[in-house]
Amino acid sequence: MFLCSQLILNHFKANQNPLNKIKSDFPIFDSYPDLVYLDNAATTQRARSVVGRIGTFLSEENANIHRGVYDLSTKATSAYEEVRKKVADFLKAPSSECIGFTSGTTDSANTIAKGYLKGQLKEGDNLVISIAEHHGNFIPWQQLAKEKKAELRIIPLMNNGDLELSRLPKLIDSNTKFVSVQHISNTLGTLHDIEHIIEISHQHNVPVMIDAAQSAALYFLDWDRIDYDFLAFSGHKVFGPFGVGIVFVAPKYQEQVKPYKLGGGIIRDVQVDDTIFSRFPYVLDAGTPNISGVIGLGAAIDYLVSLDRTPLRKAQEELINSAADRLSGIQRVKVLGNPKRRSSIISFTVDGIHPHEIASFLNQDNIAVRAGMHCTQPLLDHLKTPATARLSTSIYNSVEDIDKLIDSINGLIKFWS
Ligand code: ALA
Repeated sequence: MFLCSQLILNHFKANQNPLNKIKSDFPIFDSYPDLVYLDNAATTQRARSVVGRIGTFLSEENANIHRGVYDLSTKATSAYEEVRKKVADFLKAPSSECIGFTSGTTDSANTIAKGYLKGQLKEGDNLVISIAEHHGNFIPWQQLAKEKKAELRIIPLMNNGDLELSRLPKLIDSNTKFVSVQHISNTLGTLHDIEHIIEISHQHNVPVMIDAAQSAALYFLDWDRIDYDFLAFSGHKVFGPFGVGIVFVAPKYQEQVKPYKLGGGIIRDVQVDDTIFSRFPYVLDAGTPNISGVIGLGAAIDYLVSLDRTPLRKAQEELINSAADRLSGIQRVKVLGNPKRRSSIISFTVDGIHPHEIASFLNQDNIAVRAGMHCTQPLLDHLKTPATARLSTSIYNSVEDIDKLIDSINGLIKFWS
Protein backbone atom coordinates (compact mmCIF):
# COMPACT_ATOMS: atom_id res chain seq x y z
CA MET A 1 0.00 0.00 0.00
CA PHE A 2 1.40 3.42 -0.82
CA LEU A 3 0.17 6.81 0.19
CA CYS A 4 -0.65 9.78 -1.96
CA SER A 5 2.22 12.07 -1.15
CA GLN A 6 5.75 12.32 -0.02
CA LEU A 7 4.46 14.80 2.51
CA ILE A 8 2.44 12.29 4.44
CA LEU A 9 5.15 9.66 4.01
CA ASN A 10 7.64 12.03 5.58
CA HIS A 11 5.24 13.00 8.26
CA PHE A 12 4.67 9.43 9.29
CA LYS A 13 8.11 8.03 8.63
CA ALA A 14 8.55 7.17 12.30
CA ASN A 15 5.59 4.89 11.93
CA GLN A 16 5.96 1.74 9.85
CA ASN A 17 2.55 1.85 8.26
CA PRO A 18 0.67 5.03 9.13
CA LEU A 19 -2.49 4.35 7.19
CA ASN A 20 -2.90 0.98 8.86
CA LYS A 21 -2.50 2.76 12.18
CA ILE A 22 -5.27 5.21 11.29
CA LYS A 23 -7.45 2.43 9.87
CA SER A 24 -7.00 0.46 13.07
CA ASP A 25 -8.67 3.37 14.89
CA PHE A 26 -11.92 2.49 13.03
CA PRO A 27 -13.58 -0.82 13.95
CA ILE A 28 -15.60 -0.97 10.71
CA PHE A 29 -12.40 -2.06 8.95
CA ASP A 30 -12.04 -5.01 11.37
CA SER A 31 -15.40 -6.24 10.10
CA TYR A 32 -14.84 -5.25 6.46
CA PRO A 33 -11.09 -5.20 5.76
CA ASP A 34 -11.64 -4.90 2.01
CA LEU A 35 -14.17 -2.09 2.19
CA VAL A 36 -13.28 0.94 0.08
CA TYR A 37 -15.36 3.50 1.90
CA LEU A 38 -15.77 6.62 -0.22
CA ASP A 39 -19.01 8.03 1.22
CA ASN A 40 -17.53 10.15 3.97
CA ALA A 41 -19.55 13.22 3.01
CA ALA A 42 -22.68 11.26 3.97
CA THR A 43 -21.13 10.02 7.19
CA THR A 44 -17.62 9.20 8.33
CA GLN A 45 -16.84 5.97 10.08
CA ARG A 46 -16.93 5.89 13.87
CA ALA A 47 -13.63 6.05 15.77
CA ARG A 48 -13.01 3.14 18.14
CA SER A 49 -12.50 5.54 21.03
CA VAL A 50 -15.94 7.07 20.36
CA VAL A 51 -17.67 3.69 20.38
CA GLY A 52 -15.80 2.77 23.57
CA ARG A 53 -16.62 6.02 25.34
CA ILE A 54 -20.34 5.76 24.56
CA GLY A 55 -20.33 2.14 25.77
CA THR A 56 -18.62 3.11 29.03
CA PHE A 57 -21.00 6.00 29.60
CA LEU A 58 -24.09 3.88 29.01
CA SER A 59 -22.91 0.92 31.05
CA GLU A 60 -21.09 2.66 33.91
CA GLU A 61 -22.07 6.33 34.10
CA ASN A 62 -25.63 6.48 32.80
CA ALA A 63 -27.96 9.05 34.37
CA ASN A 64 -30.00 12.03 33.26
CA ILE A 65 -28.36 15.46 33.51
CA HIS A 66 -29.20 18.87 35.00
CA ARG A 67 -31.87 17.24 37.18
CA GLY A 68 -30.37 15.00 39.87
CA VAL A 69 -28.35 15.70 43.01
CA TYR A 70 -27.13 12.12 43.36
CA ASP A 71 -23.57 11.23 42.32
CA LEU A 72 -24.31 9.51 39.02
CA SER A 73 -26.37 12.43 37.81
CA THR A 74 -23.90 15.13 38.85
CA LYS A 75 -21.08 13.15 37.18
CA ALA A 76 -23.10 12.77 33.99
CA THR A 77 -23.87 16.52 34.08
CA SER A 78 -20.17 17.35 34.48
CA ALA A 79 -19.19 15.01 31.64
CA TYR A 80 -21.85 16.60 29.38
CA GLU A 81 -20.80 20.15 30.23
CA GLU A 82 -17.12 19.27 29.76
CA VAL A 83 -17.91 18.51 26.12
CA ARG A 84 -19.10 22.11 25.65
CA LYS A 85 -15.67 23.19 26.86
CA LYS A 86 -13.90 20.71 24.56
CA VAL A 87 -15.84 22.00 21.54
CA ALA A 88 -15.19 25.61 22.56
CA ASP A 89 -11.45 24.91 22.79
CA PHE A 90 -11.58 23.05 19.47
CA LEU A 91 -13.08 26.16 17.81
CA LYS A 92 -10.99 28.58 19.87
CA ALA A 93 -14.28 30.08 21.03
CA PRO A 94 -14.24 32.67 23.83
CA SER A 95 -16.21 30.43 26.22
CA SER A 96 -18.11 27.18 26.45
CA GLU A 97 -21.30 29.28 26.64
CA CYS A 98 -20.93 29.86 22.88
CA ILE A 99 -21.62 26.16 22.19
CA GLY A 100 -25.15 24.81 21.93
CA PHE A 101 -25.91 21.15 21.32
CA THR A 102 -28.29 20.19 18.53
CA SER A 103 -29.10 16.98 16.68
CA GLY A 104 -26.79 17.95 13.78
CA THR A 105 -26.05 20.65 11.24
CA THR A 106 -29.60 20.76 9.86
CA ASP A 107 -31.01 21.17 13.36
CA SER A 108 -28.45 23.93 13.99
CA ALA A 109 -29.63 25.84 10.91
CA ASN A 110 -33.27 25.40 12.02
CA THR A 111 -32.34 26.56 15.53
CA ILE A 112 -30.82 29.79 14.21
CA ALA A 113 -33.51 30.35 11.56
CA LYS A 114 -36.38 29.90 14.01
CA GLY A 115 -34.69 30.86 17.26
CA TYR A 116 -32.70 33.89 16.10
CA LEU A 117 -33.41 35.18 12.60
CA LYS A 118 -37.20 34.89 12.81
CA GLY A 119 -37.10 37.55 15.53
CA GLN A 120 -34.92 39.89 13.44
CA LEU A 121 -36.42 39.59 9.97
CA LYS A 122 -39.29 41.75 8.72
CA GLU A 123 -41.05 42.28 5.42
CA GLY A 124 -38.72 43.82 2.83
CA ASP A 125 -35.53 42.48 4.46
CA ASN A 126 -33.31 39.99 2.71
CA LEU A 127 -30.90 37.18 3.52
CA VAL A 128 -28.12 35.70 1.42
CA ILE A 129 -27.14 32.09 0.81
CA SER A 130 -25.43 30.37 -2.13
CA ILE A 131 -26.81 28.22 -4.91
CA ALA A 132 -24.51 25.40 -3.76
CA GLU A 133 -26.06 24.96 -0.30
CA HIS A 134 -27.15 21.59 1.05
CA HIS A 135 -30.92 21.52 1.60
CA GLY A 136 -30.23 21.66 5.34
CA ASN A 137 -28.71 25.12 4.86
CA PHE A 138 -31.17 26.14 2.16
CA ILE A 139 -34.73 25.21 3.08
CA PRO A 140 -34.77 26.71 6.63
CA TRP A 141 -33.78 30.13 5.18
CA GLN A 142 -36.03 29.81 2.12
CA GLN A 143 -39.09 28.98 4.24
CA LEU A 144 -38.33 31.70 6.77
CA ALA A 145 -37.96 34.25 3.95
CA LYS A 146 -41.36 33.19 2.57
CA GLU A 147 -43.00 33.36 6.00
CA LYS A 148 -41.62 36.85 6.68
CA LYS A 149 -42.06 38.16 3.11
CA ALA A 150 -38.32 38.70 2.94
CA GLU A 151 -36.15 38.11 -0.10
CA LEU A 152 -33.82 35.14 -0.41
CA ARG A 153 -30.77 36.25 -2.39
CA ILE A 154 -28.50 33.70 -3.98
CA ILE A 155 -24.74 33.88 -4.58
CA PRO A 156 -24.32 32.35 -8.04
CA LEU A 157 -21.80 29.80 -9.22
CA MET A 158 -19.09 30.21 -11.84
CA ASN A 159 -18.53 27.53 -14.46
CA ASN A 160 -15.61 26.00 -12.56
CA GLY A 161 -17.74 25.42 -9.43
CA ASP A 162 -16.42 28.35 -7.38
CA LEU A 163 -18.93 30.83 -5.99
CA GLU A 164 -19.08 34.11 -7.88
CA LEU A 165 -18.03 36.15 -4.86
CA SER A 166 -17.53 39.32 -6.89
CA ARG A 167 -21.36 39.50 -6.83
CA LEU A 168 -21.58 39.46 -3.05
CA PRO A 169 -21.09 43.22 -2.43
CA LYS A 170 -24.08 43.86 -4.72
CA LEU A 171 -26.23 41.25 -2.98
CA ILE A 172 -25.73 42.74 0.47
CA ASP A 173 -27.42 46.05 1.30
CA SER A 174 -28.86 47.86 4.30
CA ASN A 175 -31.82 45.43 4.42
CA THR A 176 -29.64 42.31 4.57
CA LYS A 177 -30.07 40.59 7.92
CA PHE A 178 -28.09 37.36 7.52
CA VAL A 179 -25.65 35.41 5.35
CA SER A 180 -25.29 31.64 5.56
CA VAL A 181 -22.86 29.57 3.48
CA GLN A 182 -21.25 26.17 3.58
CA HIS A 183 -17.48 25.89 4.00
CA ILE A 184 -17.11 22.93 1.63
CA SER A 185 -19.67 22.00 -1.00
CA ASN A 186 -20.97 18.50 -0.20
CA THR A 187 -21.55 17.96 -3.94
CA LEU A 188 -18.68 19.66 -5.78
CA GLY A 189 -16.02 19.64 -3.06
CA THR A 190 -15.35 23.36 -3.52
CA LEU A 191 -13.64 24.95 -0.54
CA HIS A 192 -15.38 28.31 -0.26
CA ASP A 193 -13.52 31.42 0.74
CA ILE A 194 -15.42 31.97 3.98
CA GLU A 195 -12.94 34.57 5.26
CA HIS A 196 -13.75 36.77 2.26
CA ILE A 197 -17.51 36.23 2.64
CA ILE A 198 -17.28 37.15 6.32
CA GLU A 199 -15.15 40.24 5.62
CA ILE A 200 -17.62 41.62 3.08
CA SER A 201 -20.66 40.80 5.25
CA HIS A 202 -19.12 42.41 8.31
CA GLN A 203 -18.43 45.60 6.35
CA HIS A 204 -22.23 45.86 6.32
CA ASN A 205 -22.62 44.61 9.91
CA VAL A 206 -24.37 41.47 8.66
CA PRO A 207 -23.82 38.29 10.72
CA VAL A 208 -22.59 35.15 8.96
CA MET A 209 -23.33 31.50 9.66
CA ILE A 210 -20.93 28.81 8.42
CA ASP A 211 -22.13 25.29 7.66
CA ALA A 212 -18.95 23.42 8.52
CA ALA A 213 -20.45 19.92 8.18
CA GLN A 214 -17.90 18.87 5.56
CA SER A 215 -14.91 20.74 6.93
CA ALA A 216 -14.89 20.37 10.71
CA ALA A 217 -12.93 17.10 10.68
CA LEU A 218 -9.80 18.44 9.02
CA TYR A 219 -9.93 22.24 8.72
CA PHE A 220 -9.07 24.58 11.55
CA LEU A 221 -12.17 26.63 12.35
CA ASP A 222 -10.57 29.01 14.81
CA TRP A 223 -13.15 31.62 15.71
CA ASP A 224 -10.48 34.07 16.90
CA ARG A 225 -9.05 34.09 13.36
CA ILE A 226 -12.07 33.54 11.07
CA ASP A 227 -14.59 35.67 13.02
CA TYR A 228 -17.82 33.89 12.02
CA ASP A 229 -20.95 34.70 14.04
CA PHE A 230 -22.67 31.32 13.89
CA LEU A 231 -21.22 27.93 12.92
CA ALA A 232 -22.57 24.39 12.80
CA PHE A 233 -21.26 20.88 12.36
CA SER A 234 -22.45 17.31 13.00
CA GLY A 235 -20.90 14.65 15.19
CA HIS A 236 -21.29 11.89 12.63
CA LYS A 237 -19.08 13.65 10.07
CA VAL A 238 -16.18 14.03 12.52
CA PHE A 239 -15.94 10.32 13.47
CA GLY A 240 -18.49 10.84 16.27
CA PRO A 241 -22.06 9.66 16.84
CA PHE A 242 -25.21 10.22 14.82
CA GLY A 243 -27.91 12.52 16.17
CA VAL A 244 -25.69 15.14 17.74
CA GLY A 245 -24.14 18.36 16.50
CA ILE A 246 -23.25 21.83 17.64
CA VAL A 247 -24.12 25.40 16.94
CA PHE A 248 -21.66 28.11 17.86
CA VAL A 249 -23.15 31.53 18.60
CA ALA A 250 -20.88 34.54 19.09
CA PRO A 251 -21.39 36.36 22.42
CA LYS A 252 -23.06 39.41 20.91
CA TYR A 253 -25.91 37.32 19.43
CA GLN A 254 -26.55 34.92 22.30
CA GLU A 255 -29.20 37.02 24.08
CA GLN A 256 -31.27 37.05 20.88
CA VAL A 257 -31.39 33.26 20.46
CA LYS A 258 -34.79 32.09 21.72
CA PRO A 259 -35.90 28.50 22.17
CA TYR A 260 -37.81 27.03 19.25
CA LYS A 261 -38.29 23.64 20.90
CA LEU A 262 -40.15 24.09 24.17
CA GLY A 263 -40.24 21.91 27.25
CA GLY A 264 -38.54 21.09 30.51
CA GLY A 265 -34.88 21.79 31.22
CA ILE A 266 -34.76 25.24 29.62
CA ILE A 267 -36.69 27.34 32.07
CA ARG A 268 -36.07 29.76 34.91
CA ASP A 269 -39.69 30.11 35.96
CA VAL A 270 -42.97 28.66 34.76
CA GLN A 271 -46.28 30.21 35.79
CA VAL A 272 -49.72 29.33 34.47
CA ASP A 273 -49.75 32.36 32.19
CA ASP A 274 -46.10 32.56 31.07
CA THR A 275 -42.57 31.14 31.22
CA ILE A 276 -39.17 32.72 31.68
CA PHE A 277 -36.56 30.79 29.76
CA SER A 278 -32.89 30.23 30.51
CA ARG A 279 -30.35 31.66 28.08
CA PHE A 280 -28.29 30.29 25.21
CA PRO A 281 -26.81 27.66 25.11
CA TYR A 282 -28.89 25.95 27.83
CA VAL A 283 -32.09 27.07 26.15
CA LEU A 284 -31.51 24.48 23.40
CA ASP A 285 -31.71 21.51 25.78
CA ALA A 286 -35.51 21.11 26.00
CA GLY A 287 -36.41 17.62 27.18
CA THR A 288 -33.72 15.05 27.79
CA PRO A 289 -30.95 15.80 25.30
CA ASN A 290 -28.85 13.23 23.46
CA ILE A 291 -26.56 12.79 26.44
CA SER A 292 -24.62 9.75 25.23
CA GLY A 293 -24.32 11.44 21.82
CA VAL A 294 -22.76 14.52 23.38
CA ILE A 295 -20.39 12.32 25.42
CA GLY A 296 -19.43 10.51 22.19
CA LEU A 297 -18.92 13.84 20.44
CA GLY A 298 -16.47 14.74 23.20
CA ALA A 299 -14.51 11.55 22.44
CA ALA A 300 -14.54 12.45 18.72
CA ILE A 301 -13.13 15.89 19.51
CA ASP A 302 -10.41 14.25 21.63
CA TYR A 303 -9.61 11.97 18.69
CA LEU A 304 -9.42 14.88 16.24
CA VAL A 305 -7.18 16.84 18.57
CA SER A 306 -4.88 13.80 18.92
CA LEU A 307 -4.31 13.77 15.14
CA ASP A 308 -1.76 15.91 13.36
CA ARG A 309 -4.42 17.36 11.12
CA THR A 310 -2.35 19.64 8.90
CA PRO A 311 -0.45 16.92 7.00
CA LEU A 312 -3.56 14.74 6.94
CA ARG A 313 -5.54 17.57 5.37
CA LYS A 314 -2.83 18.29 2.81
CA ALA A 315 -2.65 14.62 1.93
CA GLN A 316 -6.43 14.54 1.53
CA GLU A 317 -6.31 17.53 -0.81
CA GLU A 318 -3.60 15.86 -2.89
CA LEU A 319 -5.50 12.59 -2.94
CA ILE A 320 -8.74 14.18 -4.14
CA ASN A 321 -7.05 16.36 -6.76
CA SER A 322 -5.19 13.40 -8.22
CA ALA A 323 -8.45 11.39 -8.20
CA ALA A 324 -10.19 14.24 -10.09
CA ASP A 325 -7.38 14.30 -12.68
CA ARG A 326 -7.50 10.53 -13.12
CA LEU A 327 -11.29 10.43 -13.44
CA SER A 328 -11.26 13.31 -15.95
CA GLY A 329 -8.82 11.30 -18.04
CA ILE A 330 -11.33 8.46 -18.54
CA GLN A 331 -13.40 8.69 -21.70
CA ARG A 332 -17.14 9.14 -20.98
CA VAL A 333 -16.43 10.35 -17.43
CA LYS A 334 -17.23 13.95 -16.59
CA VAL A 335 -16.08 15.49 -13.31
CA LEU A 336 -18.39 18.31 -12.23
CA GLY A 337 -16.54 21.54 -11.54
CA ASN A 338 -12.88 22.34 -11.37
CA PRO A 339 -12.72 24.63 -8.34
CA LYS A 340 -9.64 26.61 -7.37
CA ARG A 341 -9.45 24.57 -4.20
CA ARG A 342 -11.13 21.18 -3.93
CA SER A 343 -11.46 19.21 -0.77
CA SER A 344 -12.31 15.53 -0.29
CA ILE A 345 -15.36 15.40 -2.62
CA ILE A 346 -15.87 14.74 -6.35
CA SER A 347 -19.16 14.49 -8.22
CA PHE A 348 -18.97 12.76 -11.57
CA THR A 349 -21.13 11.27 -14.28
CA VAL A 350 -20.47 8.59 -16.86
CA ASP A 351 -22.03 9.27 -20.23
CA GLY A 352 -24.99 6.93 -20.83
CA ILE A 353 -24.94 5.28 -17.39
CA HIS A 354 -27.24 6.41 -14.58
CA PRO A 355 -25.43 7.36 -11.35
CA HIS A 356 -27.39 4.70 -9.44
CA GLU A 357 -26.07 2.08 -11.90
CA ILE A 358 -22.55 3.41 -11.26
CA ALA A 359 -22.96 3.15 -7.49
CA SER A 360 -24.46 -0.37 -7.74
CA PHE A 361 -21.64 -1.56 -9.99
CA LEU A 362 -18.99 -0.12 -7.67
CA ASN A 363 -20.73 -1.78 -4.73
CA GLN A 364 -20.05 -5.17 -6.32
CA ASP A 365 -16.36 -4.29 -5.98
CA ASN A 366 -16.84 -3.31 -2.30
CA ILE A 367 -16.65 0.37 -3.11
CA ALA A 368 -19.15 2.63 -1.34
CA VAL A 369 -20.09 5.89 -3.08
CA ARG A 370 -23.30 7.93 -3.06
CA ALA A 371 -25.49 8.57 -6.11
CA GLY A 372 -28.31 11.07 -6.48
CA MET A 373 -28.86 14.76 -5.83
CA HIS A 374 -26.91 14.87 -2.58
CA CYS A 375 -29.59 17.12 -1.04
CA THR A 376 -28.55 19.93 -3.39
CA GLN A 377 -31.32 20.10 -5.98
CA PRO A 378 -30.97 23.86 -6.67
CA LEU A 379 -27.29 23.29 -7.46
CA LEU A 380 -27.93 20.29 -9.71
CA ASP A 381 -30.75 22.14 -11.47
CA HIS A 382 -28.33 25.00 -12.07
CA LEU A 383 -25.80 22.50 -13.48
CA LYS A 384 -28.58 20.90 -15.56
CA THR A 385 -27.63 17.50 -14.16
CA PRO A 386 -30.38 15.40 -12.55
CA ALA A 387 -28.00 13.25 -10.50
CA THR A 388 -24.32 12.43 -10.05
CA ALA A 389 -22.16 9.75 -8.52
CA ARG A 390 -20.11 11.15 -5.68
CA LEU A 391 -16.96 9.95 -3.97
CA SER A 392 -15.80 11.52 -0.74
CA THR A 393 -12.60 10.66 1.11
CA SER A 394 -11.41 10.80 4.68
CA ILE A 395 -8.25 10.19 6.66
CA TYR A 396 -8.29 6.40 6.17
CA ASN A 397 -8.43 6.52 2.35
CA SER A 398 -5.34 5.83 0.26
CA VAL A 399 -4.24 5.98 -3.35
CA GLU A 400 -4.92 2.24 -3.37
CA ASP A 401 -8.61 3.01 -2.78
CA ILE A 402 -8.61 5.42 -5.72
CA ASP A 403 -6.81 2.78 -7.86
CA LYS A 404 -9.64 0.34 -7.08
CA LEU A 405 -12.24 2.97 -7.91
CA ILE A 406 -10.62 3.78 -11.25
CA ASP A 407 -10.31 0.06 -12.12
CA SER A 408 -13.95 -0.49 -11.24
CA ILE A 409 -15.12 2.48 -13.33
CA ASN A 410 -13.09 1.20 -16.28
CA GLY A 411 -14.78 -2.20 -15.75
CA LEU A 412 -18.19 -0.51 -15.64
CA ILE A 413 -17.60 1.33 -18.89
CA LYS A 414 -16.40 -1.88 -20.55
CA PHE A 415 -19.46 -3.74 -19.25
CA TRP A 416 -21.81 -1.05 -20.62
CA SER A 417 -20.13 -0.59 -23.99
N1 ALA B 1 -25.24 15.71 3.87
C1 ALA B 1 -24.89 14.37 3.62
C2 ALA B 1 -24.44 14.15 2.19
O1 ALA B 1 -24.10 15.10 1.52
C3 ALA B 1 -25.92 13.41 4.05
O2 ALA B 1 -24.42 13.02 1.75
